[in-house]
Amino acid sequence: MAFPVNRMRRLRNNEKLRAMVRENRLSAEQLIYPLFVAHGKGIKSEISSMPGNYRFSIDLLVDEVKEASDLGINSVILFGIPHAKDAVGSEAYNPKGIVQEAVRKIKEEAPEVIVITDVCIDEYTDHGHCGLVREGEILNDETLELLAKMALTHAEAGADMVAPSDMMDGRVGAIREKLDEFGFCNTPIMAYSAKYASAFYGPFREAADSSPKFGDRKSYQMDPANSNEALREVELDLEEGADIIMVKPALSYLDIIYRVKSEFGVPVAAYNVSGEYSMVAAAAGNDWVDRERIVMEILLSIKRAGADMILTYHAKEAARILAKS
Ligand code: PBG
Repeated sequence: MAFPVNRMRRLRNNEKLRAMVRENRLSAEQLIYPLFVAHGKGIKSEISSMPGNYRFSIDLLVDEVKEASDLGINSVILFGIPHAKDAVGSEAYNPKGIVQEAVRKIKEEAPEVIVITDVCIDEYTDHGHCGLVREGEILNDETLELLAKMALTHAEAGADMVAPSDMMDGRVGAIREKLDEFGFCNTPIMAYSAKYASAFYGPFREAADSSPKFGDRKSYQMDPANSNEALREVELDLEEGADIIMVKPALSYLDIIYRVKSEFGVPVAAYNVSGEYSMVAAAAGNDWVDRERIVMEILLSIKRAGADMILTYHAKEAARILAKS
Protein backbone atom coordinates (compact mmCIF):
# COMPACT_ATOMS: atom_id res chain seq x y z
CA MET A 1 0.00 0.00 0.00
CA ALA A 2 1.37 3.33 -0.97
CA PHE A 3 1.15 6.86 0.32
CA PRO A 4 -0.79 8.24 2.15
CA VAL A 5 -1.55 4.99 4.01
CA ASN A 6 2.14 4.38 4.40
CA ARG A 7 4.33 7.18 5.63
CA MET A 8 7.94 6.20 6.28
CA ARG A 9 8.44 9.40 8.23
CA ARG A 10 6.11 8.27 11.06
CA LEU A 11 8.86 6.26 12.71
CA ARG A 12 11.43 8.98 12.23
CA ASN A 13 9.49 11.54 14.15
CA ASN A 14 11.62 11.77 17.27
CA GLU A 15 14.77 10.29 18.73
CA LYS A 16 12.93 7.81 21.00
CA LEU A 17 11.06 6.35 18.05
CA ARG A 18 14.19 6.29 15.94
CA ALA A 19 16.04 4.48 18.70
CA MET A 20 13.20 1.96 18.97
CA VAL A 21 13.41 0.92 15.34
CA ARG A 22 17.20 1.21 15.00
CA GLU A 23 18.54 -1.92 13.31
CA ASN A 24 22.23 -1.72 14.13
CA ARG A 25 24.11 -0.47 17.14
CA LEU A 26 27.74 -0.07 17.96
CA SER A 27 29.15 -1.09 21.27
CA ALA A 28 32.60 -0.52 22.71
CA GLU A 29 32.86 -4.24 23.47
CA GLN A 30 33.12 -4.99 19.80
CA LEU A 31 35.85 -2.50 19.07
CA ILE A 32 39.42 -3.73 18.92
CA TYR A 33 42.09 -1.11 19.48
CA PRO A 34 45.31 -1.50 17.42
CA LEU A 35 48.46 -0.46 19.25
CA PHE A 36 52.11 -0.13 18.27
CA VAL A 37 54.76 -1.11 20.76
CA ALA A 38 58.46 -0.28 20.64
CA HIS A 39 61.50 -0.80 22.86
CA GLY A 40 62.52 1.77 25.44
CA LYS A 41 60.96 3.52 28.40
CA GLY A 42 58.69 6.50 28.69
CA ILE A 43 58.07 6.61 24.96
CA LYS A 44 54.83 7.88 23.48
CA SER A 45 55.62 9.23 20.04
CA GLU A 46 52.87 10.33 17.76
CA ILE A 47 52.58 8.76 14.31
CA SER A 48 52.59 11.83 12.09
CA SER A 49 50.17 10.49 9.49
CA MET A 50 47.81 9.21 12.21
CA PRO A 51 47.45 12.06 14.70
CA GLY A 52 46.08 10.75 17.99
CA ASN A 53 47.87 7.40 17.58
CA TYR A 54 51.27 6.63 19.02
CA ARG A 55 54.15 4.23 19.28
CA PHE A 56 54.39 3.26 22.94
CA SER A 57 57.10 1.70 25.02
CA ILE A 58 55.73 -1.13 27.17
CA ASP A 59 55.36 0.94 30.35
CA LEU A 60 53.16 3.55 28.67
CA LEU A 61 51.41 0.96 26.52
CA VAL A 62 50.04 -0.60 29.68
CA ASP A 63 48.58 2.76 30.73
CA GLU A 64 46.97 3.15 27.31
CA VAL A 65 45.46 -0.34 27.50
CA LYS A 66 44.04 0.41 30.93
CA GLU A 67 42.58 3.68 29.72
CA ALA A 68 40.91 1.90 26.80
CA SER A 69 39.62 -0.79 29.12
CA ASP A 70 38.11 1.86 31.41
CA LEU A 71 36.25 3.17 28.36
CA GLY A 72 34.73 -0.29 27.82
CA ILE A 73 37.10 -1.49 25.11
CA ASN A 74 37.80 -5.12 25.96
CA SER A 75 40.42 -5.97 23.38
CA VAL A 76 43.58 -4.69 21.77
CA ILE A 77 45.72 -5.93 18.92
CA LEU A 78 49.46 -5.44 19.15
CA PHE A 79 52.00 -4.61 16.45
CA GLY A 80 55.68 -4.71 17.30
CA ILE A 81 58.49 -2.42 16.26
CA PRO A 82 61.66 -4.43 16.90
CA HIS A 83 65.09 -2.98 17.67
CA ALA A 84 66.64 -4.95 14.82
CA LYS A 85 65.49 -6.40 11.53
CA ASP A 86 67.09 -9.19 9.52
CA ALA A 87 66.35 -11.36 6.50
CA VAL A 88 64.41 -14.00 8.45
CA GLY A 89 62.64 -11.70 10.94
CA SER A 90 64.29 -13.31 13.99
CA GLU A 91 62.78 -10.82 16.42
CA ALA A 92 59.30 -11.90 15.36
CA TYR A 93 59.64 -15.25 17.11
CA ASN A 94 62.10 -14.29 19.82
CA PRO A 95 60.36 -15.38 23.06
CA LYS A 96 61.72 -12.16 24.57
CA GLY A 97 60.76 -10.00 21.60
CA ILE A 98 58.91 -6.72 21.90
CA VAL A 99 55.39 -8.09 21.41
CA GLN A 100 56.00 -11.12 23.63
CA GLU A 101 57.21 -8.87 26.47
CA ALA A 102 54.34 -6.44 25.94
CA VAL A 103 51.80 -9.26 26.13
CA ARG A 104 53.34 -10.53 29.37
CA LYS A 105 53.19 -7.09 30.94
CA ILE A 106 49.60 -6.39 29.86
CA LYS A 107 48.41 -9.78 31.10
CA GLU A 108 50.14 -9.03 34.40
CA GLU A 109 48.70 -5.55 34.87
CA ALA A 110 45.37 -5.70 33.04
CA PRO A 111 44.53 -9.41 32.83
CA GLU A 112 40.90 -8.76 31.93
CA VAL A 113 41.81 -7.26 28.55
CA ILE A 114 41.78 -9.61 25.55
CA VAL A 115 45.20 -9.35 23.95
CA ILE A 116 45.35 -10.24 20.28
CA THR A 117 48.68 -10.35 18.46
CA ASP A 118 49.34 -9.72 14.81
CA VAL A 119 51.28 -12.63 13.35
CA CYS A 120 53.37 -11.53 10.39
CA ILE A 121 57.07 -11.03 9.87
CA ASP A 122 57.05 -7.88 7.73
CA GLU A 123 57.76 -5.55 10.65
CA TYR A 124 60.75 -7.74 11.51
CA THR A 125 62.38 -8.40 8.14
CA ASP A 126 64.96 -6.06 6.62
CA HIS A 127 63.32 -6.51 3.19
CA GLY A 128 59.87 -5.68 4.62
CA HIS A 129 58.05 -8.64 3.11
CA CYS A 130 55.62 -10.93 4.92
CA GLY A 131 57.49 -14.06 3.87
CA LEU A 132 61.03 -15.31 3.45
CA VAL A 133 62.65 -14.10 0.27
CA ARG A 134 64.88 -16.02 -2.14
CA GLU A 135 66.10 -14.37 -5.31
CA GLY A 136 63.31 -11.84 -5.23
CA GLU A 137 60.59 -14.43 -4.70
CA ILE A 138 58.39 -14.45 -1.58
CA LEU A 139 58.47 -18.04 -0.38
CA ASN A 140 55.28 -19.60 0.90
CA ASP A 141 55.89 -23.00 2.48
CA GLU A 142 59.24 -22.05 4.02
CA THR A 143 57.53 -19.15 5.82
CA LEU A 144 54.85 -21.25 7.49
CA GLU A 145 57.10 -22.68 10.19
CA LEU A 146 58.26 -19.18 11.17
CA LEU A 147 54.70 -17.93 11.45
CA ALA A 148 53.72 -20.96 13.53
CA LYS A 149 56.72 -20.37 15.81
CA MET A 150 55.82 -16.70 16.12
CA ALA A 151 52.23 -17.50 17.06
CA LEU A 152 53.44 -20.02 19.62
CA THR A 153 55.72 -17.50 21.35
CA HIS A 154 52.77 -15.11 21.52
CA ALA A 155 50.53 -17.76 23.07
CA GLU A 156 53.27 -18.74 25.52
CA ALA A 157 53.58 -15.10 26.55
CA GLY A 158 49.85 -15.12 27.32
CA ALA A 159 48.19 -13.84 24.14
CA ASP A 160 44.46 -14.58 24.16
CA MET A 161 44.17 -14.76 20.38
CA VAL A 162 46.52 -14.69 17.39
CA ALA A 163 45.83 -12.95 14.12
CA PRO A 164 47.89 -14.00 11.09
CA SER A 165 48.07 -11.16 8.56
CA ASP A 166 50.71 -12.48 6.19
CA MET A 167 48.48 -14.04 3.50
CA MET A 168 50.71 -17.08 2.97
CA ASP A 169 48.68 -20.11 1.88
CA GLY A 170 48.23 -22.67 4.63
CA ARG A 171 49.30 -20.48 7.51
CA VAL A 172 46.12 -20.88 9.52
CA GLY A 173 46.52 -24.66 9.47
CA ALA A 174 50.21 -24.46 10.33
CA ILE A 175 49.51 -22.16 13.27
CA ARG A 176 46.57 -24.26 14.49
CA GLU A 177 48.70 -27.40 14.42
CA LYS A 178 51.56 -25.77 16.31
CA LEU A 179 49.29 -24.24 18.96
CA ASP A 180 47.49 -27.55 19.49
CA GLU A 181 50.75 -29.45 19.73
CA PHE A 182 51.84 -27.23 22.61
CA GLY A 183 48.55 -27.31 24.49
CA PHE A 184 47.02 -24.09 23.21
CA CYS A 185 44.01 -25.74 21.65
CA ASN A 186 41.76 -23.08 23.17
CA THR A 187 43.62 -20.11 21.70
CA PRO A 188 41.46 -18.75 18.87
CA ILE A 189 42.78 -17.65 15.50
CA MET A 190 41.46 -14.46 13.94
CA ALA A 191 42.51 -14.88 10.32
CA TYR A 192 43.12 -11.92 8.06
CA SER A 193 41.45 -13.98 5.34
CA ALA A 194 40.38 -11.40 2.79
CA LYS A 195 43.31 -9.03 3.00
CA TYR A 196 43.70 -6.87 -0.05
CA ALA A 197 46.84 -5.35 -1.55
CA SER A 198 45.71 -1.89 -0.55
CA ALA A 199 47.07 1.64 -0.64
CA PHE A 200 45.12 2.26 2.56
CA TYR A 201 47.96 0.65 4.57
CA GLY A 202 50.32 3.55 3.85
CA PRO A 203 50.25 5.24 7.26
CA PHE A 204 50.63 1.89 9.05
CA ARG A 205 53.79 1.20 7.10
CA GLU A 206 55.14 4.54 8.22
CA ALA A 207 54.21 3.73 11.82
CA ALA A 208 55.83 0.29 11.74
CA ASP A 209 58.52 1.11 9.20
CA SER A 210 57.39 -1.97 7.28
CA SER A 211 57.21 -0.92 3.64
CA PRO A 212 58.60 -3.57 1.32
CA LYS A 213 62.10 -2.57 0.23
CA PHE A 214 61.55 -4.01 -3.23
CA GLY A 215 58.45 -4.82 -5.23
CA ASP A 216 55.02 -4.92 -3.64
CA ARG A 217 52.71 -7.34 -1.83
CA LYS A 218 50.57 -8.25 -4.82
CA SER A 219 51.85 -11.83 -5.05
CA TYR A 220 50.30 -12.62 -1.68
CA GLN A 221 47.67 -10.02 -0.80
CA MET A 222 44.45 -9.99 -2.79
CA ASP A 223 43.62 -8.06 -5.93
CA PRO A 224 41.13 -5.27 -5.07
CA ALA A 225 39.18 -6.23 -8.19
CA ASN A 226 38.14 -9.61 -6.79
CA SER A 227 35.32 -10.69 -4.53
CA ASN A 228 34.59 -14.34 -5.34
CA GLU A 229 38.19 -15.04 -4.50
CA ALA A 230 37.61 -13.61 -1.01
CA LEU A 231 34.98 -16.26 -0.38
CA ARG A 232 37.46 -18.96 -1.36
CA GLU A 233 40.08 -17.51 0.96
CA VAL A 234 37.54 -17.52 3.78
CA GLU A 235 36.41 -21.06 3.07
CA LEU A 236 39.97 -22.35 3.12
CA ASP A 237 40.83 -20.52 6.34
CA LEU A 238 37.73 -21.91 8.02
CA GLU A 239 38.71 -25.42 6.94
CA GLU A 240 42.15 -24.85 8.43
CA GLY A 241 40.63 -23.85 11.75
CA ALA A 242 40.09 -20.08 11.71
CA ASP A 243 37.67 -18.98 14.44
CA ILE A 244 37.12 -15.40 13.32
CA ILE A 245 37.39 -14.17 9.75
CA MET A 246 38.75 -10.75 8.96
CA VAL A 247 38.13 -8.52 5.98
CA LYS A 248 40.68 -5.75 5.43
CA PRO A 249 40.46 -2.86 4.65
CA ALA A 250 36.86 -2.16 5.63
CA LEU A 251 35.43 0.85 3.86
CA SER A 252 36.17 0.05 0.25
CA TYR A 253 35.29 -3.59 0.96
CA LEU A 254 31.88 -3.38 2.61
CA ASP A 255 30.55 -5.66 -0.12
CA ILE A 256 33.09 -8.30 0.88
CA ILE A 257 32.08 -8.03 4.54
CA TYR A 258 28.46 -8.44 3.50
CA ARG A 259 29.14 -11.45 1.29
CA VAL A 260 31.34 -13.20 3.84
CA LYS A 261 28.79 -12.72 6.61
CA SER A 262 25.85 -13.84 4.45
CA GLU A 263 27.67 -16.82 3.00
CA PHE A 264 29.30 -18.26 6.12
CA GLY A 265 27.53 -16.77 9.15
CA VAL A 266 30.74 -16.97 11.18
CA PRO A 267 32.14 -14.21 13.39
CA VAL A 268 33.45 -11.50 11.08
CA ALA A 269 35.93 -8.79 11.95
CA ALA A 270 36.63 -5.80 9.76
CA TYR A 271 39.81 -3.73 9.89
CA ASN A 272 39.16 -0.01 9.56
CA VAL A 273 42.78 0.52 8.53
CA SER A 274 45.34 3.27 8.95
CA GLY A 275 44.64 5.11 5.68
CA GLU A 276 40.93 5.19 6.44
CA TYR A 277 41.75 6.75 9.80
CA SER A 278 44.19 9.26 8.30
CA MET A 279 41.67 10.49 5.74
CA VAL A 280 39.15 11.22 8.47
CA ALA A 281 41.76 12.82 10.70
CA ALA A 282 42.95 15.05 7.84
CA ALA A 283 39.49 16.13 6.77
CA ALA A 284 38.32 16.73 10.33
CA GLY A 285 41.56 18.55 11.11
CA ASN A 286 40.63 21.03 8.40
CA ASP A 287 37.09 21.33 9.71
CA TRP A 288 35.78 19.93 6.45
CA VAL A 289 33.70 17.27 8.19
CA ASP A 290 32.21 16.78 11.64
CA ARG A 291 34.64 14.28 13.14
CA GLU A 292 32.31 12.65 15.68
CA ARG A 293 29.52 12.14 13.21
CA ILE A 294 31.82 10.87 10.47
CA VAL A 295 33.52 8.39 12.80
CA MET A 296 30.24 6.94 14.03
CA GLU A 297 28.74 6.81 10.54
CA ILE A 298 31.77 4.94 9.22
CA LEU A 299 31.83 2.44 12.06
CA LEU A 300 28.11 1.90 11.80
CA SER A 301 28.34 1.26 8.07
CA ILE A 302 30.92 -1.45 8.73
CA LYS A 303 28.64 -2.99 11.32
CA ARG A 304 25.62 -2.76 9.03
CA ALA A 305 27.54 -4.53 6.28
CA GLY A 306 27.87 -7.51 8.60
CA ALA A 307 30.95 -7.11 10.76
CA ASP A 308 30.64 -8.21 14.37
CA MET A 309 33.93 -6.69 15.43
CA ILE A 310 35.79 -3.66 14.17
CA LEU A 311 39.50 -3.07 14.51
CA THR A 312 39.82 0.68 14.54
CA TYR A 313 42.19 3.47 15.51
CA HIS A 314 39.05 5.41 16.42
CA ALA A 315 38.29 2.95 19.23
CA LYS A 316 38.82 5.31 22.15
CA GLU A 317 36.99 8.27 20.66
CA ALA A 318 34.12 6.02 19.54
CA ALA A 319 33.84 4.54 23.03
CA ARG A 320 33.70 8.06 24.47
CA ILE A 321 31.00 9.09 22.03
CA LEU A 322 29.00 5.94 22.79
CA ALA A 323 29.28 6.57 26.51
CA LYS A 324 27.74 10.02 26.27
CA SER A 325 25.01 9.17 23.77
C1 PBG B 1 51.04 -6.74 8.08
C2 PBG B 1 49.97 -5.78 8.42
C3 PBG B 1 49.68 -4.58 7.79
C4 PBG B 1 48.61 -4.02 8.46
C5 PBG B 1 48.28 -4.87 9.51
N1 PBG B 1 49.12 -5.97 9.45
C6 PBG B 1 50.37 -3.85 6.71
C7 PBG B 1 50.65 -4.43 5.42
O1 PBG B 1 50.09 -5.42 4.95
O2 PBG B 1 51.51 -3.81 4.81
C8 PBG B 1 47.96 -2.72 8.10
C9 PBG B 1 47.01 -2.15 9.07
C10 PBG B 1 46.65 -0.75 8.80
O3 PBG B 1 46.90 -0.19 7.72
O4 PBG B 1 46.07 -0.15 9.71
N2 PBG B 1 51.78 -7.11 9.22
